[in-house]
Formats: sequence, structure tokens, C-alpha cells
Amino acid sequence: MKKTSLALLLAVFTLLSYAPLRADEGMWLAMLLGKLNEVDMKAKGLKLSAEQIYSVNNSSLKDAIFGLGYGNPGSNFCTSEAISSEGLLLTNHHCAYDLIQSHSTPENNILEKGFMAATKAEELPNQGLTASFLVRMEDVTEKMKAAMGNGTAYQVQQQIIEEATKDTHYKAIVKDFFFGNEFYLFVFETFRDVRLVAAPPEAVGKFGGDTDNWMWPRHTGDFAILRIYADKDNKPADYSTDNVPYKPKHFLPVSVKGIQEGDFAMTFGFPGRTERYKTSYSLLVDFEMSNPARIKLRENRLNLMKESMDKDPKVRLMYAAKYAQISNYYKYFIGQNEGLARLKTVDLKRENEAKFQDWADKSGEERYATALKRIEEAQKAMTEYQLSYIYLQEAAFGAELMELAYEFYDLYDLLKAGNDTKEAAAAKEAAINAHFEEYNTTIDKRVFAKLFSFYAQDVPKSQQPALFESVVAKKYKGNWEKYADKMFASSFLTSKERALAFAKNPSLKAMESDLGFSLFLDVFNNYRQKIAPAIGQSQGALMMAMRDYVEGLRAMQTDKVFYPDANSTLRLSYGTVRDYAPKDGVQFNYFTTHKGILEKENPNDAEFVVPAKVKELIQKKDFGTYADKNGNLPVAFITDNDITGGNSGSPVIGANGELIGLAFDGNWEAMTGDLVYDVEYKRCINVDIRYVLWTIDKVLGGERLIQEMKLVK
Ligand code: ARG
Repeated sequence: MKKTSLALLLAVFTLLSYAPLRADEGMWLAMLLGKLNEVDMKAKGLKLSAEQIYSVNNSSLKDAIFGLGYGNPGSNFCTSEAISSEGLLLTNHHCAYDLIQSHSTPENNILEKGFMAATKAEELPNQGLTASFLVRMEDVTEKMKAAMGNGTAYQVQQQIIEEATKDTHYKAIVKDFFFGNEFYLFVFETFRDVRLVAAPPEAVGKFGGDTDNWMWPRHTGDFAILRIYADKDNKPADYSTDNVPYKPKHFLPVSVKGIQEGDFAMTFGFPGRTERYKTSYSLLVDFEMSNPARIKLRENRLNLMKESMDKDPKVRLMYAAKYAQISNYYKYFIGQNEGLARLKTVDLKRENEAKFQDWADKSGEERYATALKRIEEAQKAMTEYQLSYIYLQEAAFGAELMELAYEFYDLYDLLKAGNDTKEAAAAKEAAINAHFEEYNTTIDKRVFAKLFSFYAQDVPKSQQPALFESVVAKKYKGNWEKYADKMFASSFLTSKERALAFAKNPSLKAMESDLGFSLFLDVFNNYRQKIAPAIGQSQGALMMAMRDYVEGLRAMQTDKVFYPDANSTLRLSYGTVRDYAPKDGVQFNYFTTHKGILEKENPNDAEFVVPAKVKELIQKKDFGTYADKNGNLPVAFITDNDITGGNSGSPVIGANGELIGLAFDGNWEAMTGDLVYDVEYKRCINVDIRYVLWTIDKVLGGERLIQEMKLVK
């Protein structure tokens, strides 16, 4: 079709009129919304003020957002949100996956069946799990920079934390932003009694499995329900039957009004890590070296796990969470490398770096002009050791016995120093029990032999642990399977009985002669003594150069609003409900419905089984009040919010502050999203809140939970 000049003119006009609204890139700090984003957010449709989102004096949206972690609010692994005045929390099924698994037995497999506590008394405690919300944050850049100038950064940081938490039960952390150009203090209240309330059957919560993971269109009910308990004064307390449901300062009303293309949407949560400022030099190493190694090692590990899991349902249940975790990022690295190639990300970075260099050369600032050169050099030095680093993580510690060995390291230190080991040894019992509760010797033995043989093959010889040559090559002819046979028959790391017996009567001699522990020691010391110092030195130089580079980038574009990389701190991202074209000639809709569940159904493929109850309800079109205006059951939708791992479980909040969905994934076409935000492709995949409510109500019979919530029609 021919375009008329009027159409062309209009096209240019709409492009121009769209230009002032930035793409929906950015993970913003709640405290700075008023200054940096409020105007833009309102232009996109937000009806709330920045003060209603983040306020220190009044209750605000942020009070409903809880990071899920294991005690340390600086390292939340997922996000959750309060959705009732009684501390009900909504998060992803994949965030609660190992909790659900831990409450499952082959006889009562709630991972498979799903779970709904009939009363509060039946809600299940989870040892160690915590939920933290941000009490307040503060810019401490000046104090920290002054301290860095005179070498007292650590002391000053401790002082800031102490002052912020004095006479309270709060926890605080100071985090570095823009590679040491800014610092913020975060104060948290952390709750320690968080119970499992409900979960859909795995065939709903993980419908589509690894095949659909990181993909749109999606039909997964990826949610689970938890509840925070507190003491009688609404304060954090260890688990106790005396505890009562926590009353949050704010909880999210739930909208059943439905969504439309173009609707305002924001996510609020704890994104873990992005590397948007990473240069072409480092990206190339990911692309050519790190990602392929990770993919290869994970693939081998997964295959071996799967063989055993397929043979025995007990093993399948026992290894479900471990398997899911490894395969999630296995697919991530594959997607990232595909994306890097397809989107030519390295070339894109190079172009931008050339522009920066031009500007920097004219800036008159030495530190800007030399930044990229210094990054290149430091990266080059680090690359020499990159495989050692990857193989330590993915190969050595891919063998589960190495993790247990690490648990015993403090005991070894004490023994070596001739100190008393009673207390440390007694503390091992719990760790040993936990380790062997989810442990299969066949899997670990085969994984160990495979991964270590790759380690010995792929990592430069000069960087390898000494035992690889002196023992495995010499005595075992490089046959790691033989070594594994011997080790698994004798080591205290590969049998619960031997481990417990050892902990009762620990000795230095037994540790040093143990085939497992001595190997661990060698691997660990090799890394600490040979590899880490070399990497550390270049990494220090790299970070200094990155600080100057990022400072320079901001000085170069003073009219651009910059946001810092994700670092597990609370961030808000805003955008709209929006479809996309995955490739030329193909358009993806922005939402999915129940129809796709039946389209994908395959009773012979565990990933695509539809539970009988779900199928029956769908066939009867029993969608209650949760159907959309066409009588369909909405399942998932996409927005262009900027999220990453750690955001899992983040609420998707509409213009009025109401909950419309639950973020749970990213899409295949934008798997480079942690490195660059691609306006055309980057989408955030969400469960429609009406699908969550329908599943709770109709599938799980959880009316009592629906009644607790504040539904807005
Ligand atoms: N890709 C999702 C994330 O990283 C996890 C999805 C879990 N589902 C699965 N099939 N493994 O947040």
C-alpha cells in the first residue's frame, strides 16, 4: 500500500509528539520520584502523588512492599506485597517453590496438588524466611565520599548504620550506586515469622515449565500466598503459636476492573542486578567465554539430575527446586547470547563508547579521557582468569558435596589453630541434616565426576588446583569417575552417618586425609591464593575506571535523567500495558486467556498437564466474577515495565494504586535486558490478578482469603 504524504506527515507528527515521553526504561529510587519522575508518571496516567508512593511520615505504597529473604534485607531474593489488613502476602509460585517443596512428601505432595490452609492455624511456618519493608532511606553520598577520601569508608558506613538503628529493632544497610558516585542508606523492619497460606498445583503455578519459561505468550498462574505474623505489639518475632497476623501500615486494594492496552502500570520491588553500564570489552567476555561455559556446565548437570529424577518420583520431588533454579538461568544464558548476537549489542555499545571518547577527549578531564582505556586494560587482565572464576562457581560448587565441605571450613580453621571446636562442631548437626534431607548420592557422584573432568580440561593448567595433577592425573590417570568411586565410598561429606560421626569427633588428620575435604581445601585455597588476588587487583582498577566512566557519561548528557543499576534495593518502574512484535510480520497480543491453557494442554507432557479441576471449571466457563467483558478468563498480560530477577513477585499497580497483576518473568526477545533496555522488545510478563483470584476462589476453595482482601469493582 502506498502511503500518502498526509499519512507520512502524521506519522512524523505522532513520532515527534511521543518523543518527550521517554521509553519506560529505568528502575527508580522511591525517595527521588518527586524530583525525577512525578511529572512523567502523571503524563503516563498516574493518579497518585509521589508522596502517596513514598512517604516517611505517612503510610504510603512502599509500606506494602516486602522483600523476601533469609534475614539480611540487603539480599532479598524475591518481592511480595501485603494484600490484606491481616498481613496476607502475595508473591510468585517460583519464589515459594522450595518452601512448597519442603512441606511436601511423596504421600502428601502439595507441590503437585496445591495447598490451601483451611484456617490460620493450618498456615505453615518456614524456618529462616523473612519479609522486610523499607522504613526509610537517605542520601549519604557526601559522608561516604568524604570518608573514601580519607580511607575511613568502612568505619563511617558502620557509624551511619549504627546511628540509623539506635534504640530500634530495625536493620540498615548502605549501598553504593553508579559505581561509587552515590550512596544511600536503607532502613528496614524485618519480620521473621512468615507462613505459607496457599499455593496452586504446580501444573498451574509452573504451567508451561521450562519450555514456556522466559517466553510470551504465557498461561502460568505463577503465584503463592504467605502471611506475616508478629508479636502482640505488631513487632517482628521469631515463630511462635502466640504470634498474631501482622497489621501492615498499608496494603494494596485489589482491582477486578480489568486492564486495557495503554493503561498505566508500575512495578515496585527489589530488582537484584543489572549491568546497563557494562562496556563492550566486558560484554564480549560474557558472550564468548562466560556464557558458553555456564551453558555447557549447567546442561551437563541438568541432564544427569534429570536421569535420576525421571527414574524415581521421590528423587524428582527432592530435586525439584534445585533443578528449577539451575535450569532457569541455564535458559537465561542461552537467551542472552542469542539476543547479544541478534541485537548486535556489542556493536551498539562500541558506537556509544566512541561517542563518549570523542566527548571525553574534549572535556579536559583526564579521568574521563582515560576511563575506557583503563576499563579495557583491567578487563583484559581479568579475562585471563575468567574461566577459573566461572568453573569455581559452576563446576566446583556445582557438586553438592563441595557446599557441605564449605560448611566445615570454620571447623578446619579452629582445628588448625589448636582452638576449641566443641561449639562449632555441635552447630554442624543441623547443617548436616538439612544438607542430606535433599541429597541423592548417585546424582552428586555423577555430577561431581563430570564437572571436575571439565574443570581439568577447560581451565588453564597453570591455574588449576595442585591435586588435579599430583593425585588425579598421577594416581587415577585423570579418571574422575575412579576418583569419585573412592571418594564417595569413604568421605564424610558424602554420607550422613559419616558426617554426623565426624562432627562428633572432628580431627585435623581426618579432614586432611579425606578425599573430599582435601580436594575442597585445594580448590578453595588455590582460588584464594592464586586466582582471587589476581582478579581482585584488576577488579579494583576496573571499578575505579567504571566510576569515572559513569560519572563522565552523566557529565556528557546533563539533560538526561540517569538511573542506577539494580542492586537489590527497592525500585519503582513505570510504563504501560503494551503489546509487541517479536519479529517482522508477527504481532503478539498484550493478554492471554483460558483458551490458551486448553490449546497448550498435553496430558503426556508433565509441563503441560491441566489439572482435572481446572479443566472442568474452564469447560463449564465457571469464571464467576473474574471473567473479562468478553466472558473469557484473563490469565496473563504484558507491560513495558523495566524489571529483572528479584522483582519476581512484584505487584503491578494501576494508576489509582490498586493491584492489577503480579510480575513473574521477562520475554525471550529481550533476554539482553539486564545489559541494555530495548524499547521495542523489553516486556514484563504478569499474571492477571483476576486469574490469581479465580484460582484461589474456584480451584483452591479459598474464599476466606478473598474475603480478607479489599476488592475494587
Ligand atoms: N524466569 C523466571 C524468573 O527468573 C522464573 C520462572 C520460573 N518458572 C520456571 N518454569 N522455571 O523470574
